[in-house]
Amino acid sequence: MIRQCNNDDFETIYSIINDAAEAYNGVIPEDCWKVPYMSGDELKKEIDAGVVFWGYEEDGPLIGVMGIQFVQDVTLLRHSYVRTARRNQGIGSKLLSELRSRTNRPVLIGTWADAVWAIRFYENHGFKLVTPQEKDRLLKKYWSISARQIETSVVLAEPKWFALHPAPPRGGAGRAVRTR
Ligand SMILES: CC(C)(COP(=O)(O)OP(=O)(O)OC[C@H]1O[C@@H](n2cnc3c(N)ncnc32)[C@H](O)[C@@H]1OP(=O)(O)O)[C@@H](O)C(=O)NCCC(=O)NCCS
Repeated sequence: MIRQCNNDDFETIYSIINDAAEAYNGVIPEDCWKVPYMSGDELKKEIDAGVVFWGYEEDGPLIGVMGIQFVQDVTLLRHSYVRTARRNQGIGSKLLSELRSRTNRPVLIGTWADAVWAIRFYENHGFKLVTPQEKDRLLKKYWSISARQIETSVVLAEPKWFALHPAPPRGGAGRAVRTR
């Protein structure tokens, strides 16, 4: 079952994030890794900034969480984490589908450039990487993250976003064309 999380779930969300984030250990740049990966204060700040967590549970406690944040004209999916022992069982896919159904705005996702499994996961759900220039612009516009995290992250967008932001024609828009 997927449900919106509440204040009582704070410790469980914290625990799931820091358990699942172990996947980054030794993969993302060393200076971006710390223990805990996300402190309680950082998690609280994210929630205060408008990240609403949804969680997946079966008969017991939550097993996976994913946050949704409405920012300006887009929806960000933030902090997708499934307990290490329960990965690759379709839980992340269920959370992703549920949260995508809860917005009409184009969805953007940011993740570490080195988290190749996460990039593949989102690509398998129809997301595509934006260009490096575009990801810098988007991360500065919609996220509140450090310059170092911008440098080491990628952004994936769903087809709806690409339809609204078509790539300029090759050679640059408005460039004069020599006829001879
Ligand atoms: C990324 C993450 C949230 C995905 O959640 P998940 O529950 O493992 O995702 P799913 O099981 O739905 O899909 C993962 C893979 O398992 C496969 N899968 C789905 N259901 C399956 C099942 N019943 N049996 C076996 N494999 C299955 C999918 O094909 C998928 O493969 P893909 O990645 O090549 O697309 C999770 O792996 C995670 O927490 N990773 C560590 C933290 C992280 O990278 N978070 C992303 C931050 S943006």
